[in-house]
Amino acid sequence: MHKLARLDQKYVWHPFTQMRDWARREPIVLARGKGAVLEDVRGKKFLDANASIWTNLHGHNHPKLNAALQRQLKKVAHTSALGFANEPAALLAERLVKAGRGSAGASPSRTKLAKVFFSDDGSTALEVALKMSYEFTRRTGRSRAPKFLSLQGAYHGDTVGAVSVGHIDLFHKAYGGLLFKSDKVMSPNCYRCPFNQAKPERADARVTRKCNWECVGKVEAKLKQRKYAAFVVEPRVQGAAGMIAHPEGWLKRVAEAVRASGAQLIADEVMTGFGRTGTMFACQKEKVAADFLCVAKGLTGGYLPMAATLTTQAVFDAFLGEYEEFKTFFHGHSYTGNQLGAAAALASLDILQGSESKMKRRGLEKQLRDELQTLWSLAAVGDVRQEGLVAGVELVADWRTRAAFPLKARAGIRVCEAMARRGVLTRPIGNVIPLLPPYCTTQLQLRKMVKALRESIVEVLGETGC
Ligand SMILES: Cc1ncc(COP(=O)(O)O)c(C=O)c1O
Repeated sequence: MHKLARLDQKYVWHPFTQMRDWARREPIVLARGKGAVLEDVRGKKFLDANASIWTNLHGHNHPKLNAALQRQLKKVAHTSALGFANEPAALLAERLVKAGRGSAGASPSRTKLAKVFFSDDGSTALEVALKMSYEFTRRTGRSRAPKFLSLQGAYHGDTVGAVSVGHIDLFHKAYGGLLFKSDKVMSPNCYRCPFNQAKPERADARVTRKCNWECVGKVEAKLKQRKYAAFVVEPRVQGAAGMIAHPEGWLKRVAEAVRASGAQLIADEVMTGFGRTGTMFACQKEKVAADFLCVAKGLTGGYLPMAATLTTQAVFDAFLGEYEEFKTFFHGHSYTGNQLGAAAALASLDILQGSESKMKRRGLEKQLRDELQTLWSLAAVGDVRQEGLVAGVELVADWRTRAAFPLKARAGIRVCEAMARRGVLTRPIGNVIPLLPPYCTTQLQLRKMVKALRESIVEVLGETGC
């Protein structure tokens, strides 16, 4: 075993990992990367097919990002945002507000995104939005004890507030006693829709009734029951729920219902932001204007942990007052507004907003759609979902009944292990295999990713099912 693998096994506790399993095999120790390729300490190369847990945008070791960081390092790496401003954070805040407004529909000026609160990661970006929305709702007199509404299968991070609006029992149930109560509502998961399963799929699949937007009706009914501070949602795709791509039009309908109820909309774009779903932010695909836009992961192009919560002038104003009124937003982190992170984010936005990246993403998205079609013929493939450059392939024990593999069968894990043997890295979400290629992925590399997935499914689960 490589000495670094031994050291890791002796001292490191990995996230979301059964460490008994981890100790059974030599871990892959990654040492360097270039573009979509990662290399381990033994010199074996892998394709980064989930963009290092959905963070990387333009590839590893990108010359423009490296140069931006080196320029910033010659000045200063970090100064505190408590009491001081800094150049890259100020420039970045302006860029984010402009990008966040984008084409998100016409809205009156006080409800347009106008302010940026920086933090460290996706979870903290959500904590900030939850606290702001809660306090805004109380201060504006809408409710004294407002609650939050979020989707079945929601995942918004691992800090206590973010977990409180999460609804994945496997991750969240154990901490029930620590959490505040939030309400959940049906997710628009067409593949497992109890009403109609109207999504067009295999020619001979059970397409039963027409979709009547029952899932929207469920949200509307919940919104009538109480005065929520906010509806928290991952727009267009729920990532950790299993790359659940929402049907076109759901977001717009639900956003209108939220607005009509007087609640706020918290858009968690931690995974969907920065071009992943096609537009800069997923909300913009349906011209939806959120009261809070939470971003992290791809903000720095996948280089450094940094996050931001964008919000409106109206929310900001609710925290204004004389010093001794103590209306201040009492929240912050040591690395808030980190200069290196902000420099990387500015460079990443330059690349992302350039025409070359836009064209490349469009081409990749189409190729991914075409390549994924080759998976439908496998019996263990129940659903293939894609939204922009986010794809999820759901493995099932029986595609006719859509019966899931029991988690104990570790179908997703075993398929991903077989993919790693073929030089392609991704991490399963239960029995869903995500593919989120970095935007620099070449045609050949993308073909190799899907081919490795196909071959691995056949190797582990057979061509005709097991
Ligand atoms: C939609 C969404 N929100 C929040 C988070 C939490 O982000 P982080 O892991 O950076 O805290 C994640 C992480 O996967 C996520 O996918």
